[in-house]
Amino acid sequence: MFFYDEKKKKKNNIFFNEEGYKILENYLLHKVDSIKNTFILVDKNTYQHCLPLLFSYLKILEISNIIKIESGEKEKNIYTCIKIWKNLEELRANRNSLIINLGGGVITDIGGFVASVFKRGIRFINIPTTLLGMVDASVGSKTGVNLEKIKNEIGSFHFPEILIIDHNFLSTLPDREFISGKSEMLKHGLISDENFWVDLKKDLSNKNDNKWKNFIHKSILIKNKIVEKDPFEKGLRKILNFGHTIGHALESYFMDFKNKKLLHGVAVAMGMVYESWISYKINGLPMKHYEEIKFVLSNLYNIHKISSLELEVEKILSIIEHDKKNDRNKINFSLLRKIGICSYNCHVPNLLIKDCFSNI
Ligand SMILES: NC(=O)c1ccc[n+]([C@@H]2O[C@H](COP(=O)([O-])OP(=O)(O)OC[C@H]3O[C@@H](n4cnc5c(N)ncnc54)[C@H](O)[C@@H]3O)[C@@H](O)[C@H]2O)c1
Ligand SMILES: [Zn+2]
Repeated sequence: MFFYDEKKKKKNNIFFNEEGYKILENYLLHKVDSIKNTFILVDKNTYQHCLPLLFSYLKILEISNIIKIESGEKEKNIYTCIKIWKNLEELRANRNSLIINLGGGVITDIGGFVASVFKRGIRFINIPTTLLGMVDASVGSKTGVNLEKIKNEIGSFHFPEILIIDHNFLSTLPDREFISGKSEMLKHGLISDENFWVDLKKDLSNKNDNKWKNFIHKSILIKNKIVEKDPFEKGLRKILNFGHTIGHALESYFMDFKNKKLLHGVAVAMGMVYESWISYKINGLPMKHYEEIKFVLSNLYNIHKISSLELEVEKILSIIEHDKKNDRNKINFSLLRKIGICSYNCHVPNLLIKDCFSNI
């Protein structure tokens, strides 16, 4: 899995640290007609904090083109894509151009989508700079943008040529973003590896701890294994959506509130608590597992504080009804059977969804 392989275009070519930069340098020298035909997509923060680090590893990239956008989820829309496409056009990008996405999940989602349709598809490389981006968003070929409040409604499956994981970018990442990323790692444990959940839940150490490198590696392996078995989400891959049906709805719902916007990972952590309760009600999740999940996630994410806000349940339900994972009129969830085992395509009646908000 860790060697660049032309034939693995439908899989992830994942490399870590120095090895990744060596592979990238080689790729730039032999597979791109000119470095001037390479475009690095950054946001305001990764321009400041991450681009200098990338240049320090790969000086040749200094002559590439930089495309900079504002930061944050609000930028993840089709209007930002149009700006980027226009920029690419002005800079004379062509079918052989390469985009390097340097940033968190917002940059890799937008950049991957931009690349997937520009001139019917050009190549891209992901260099994630947030924890969430490293363990989740950049792994697995889902690209896309939001359609107003509907998360990731417009998108495509498009694999990066190469994915480089470099923990050094995390040193400038704000703590709240780090904690947000941790939630997707906990999800990986909950859906498929009980031991990983146990290791992570007891480890509240800070991001500078060396142990995190192993945790990140492990988390990527879990996600990648699932993606490789089902790259286009026909079945098994749906388990990665655990916590996301309600999580995405909460993220969308709070988008309009000025000071209450939820980070993706925090919304997913809340979603996982609600969906664990539903799992306990209809999918056989033992009560003690539900209570353990609620205890761990509530402590880490201050869920009580957030969930005590006045939630307009009907509005949240109507957002859930737009979820693309639904079949016709049935709302589909991925639910836990026990910690480490997850089912998918579980139909949950509307009444039970409403009930979960008043029972937690
Ligand atoms: N495609 C997928 O499979 C997938 C999976 C999970 C999440 N996502 C998407 O990922 C997005 C969330 O990603 P995110 O949490 O990385 O958010 P993000 O990209 O908005 O990054 C969070 C913040 O950190 C800043 N930042 C990034 N790297 C930094 C660094 N090294 N130092 C300092 N600041 C830095 C960014 O500018 C931003 O302000 C959501 O839109 C979500 O839907 C996609
Ligand atoms: Zn997610």
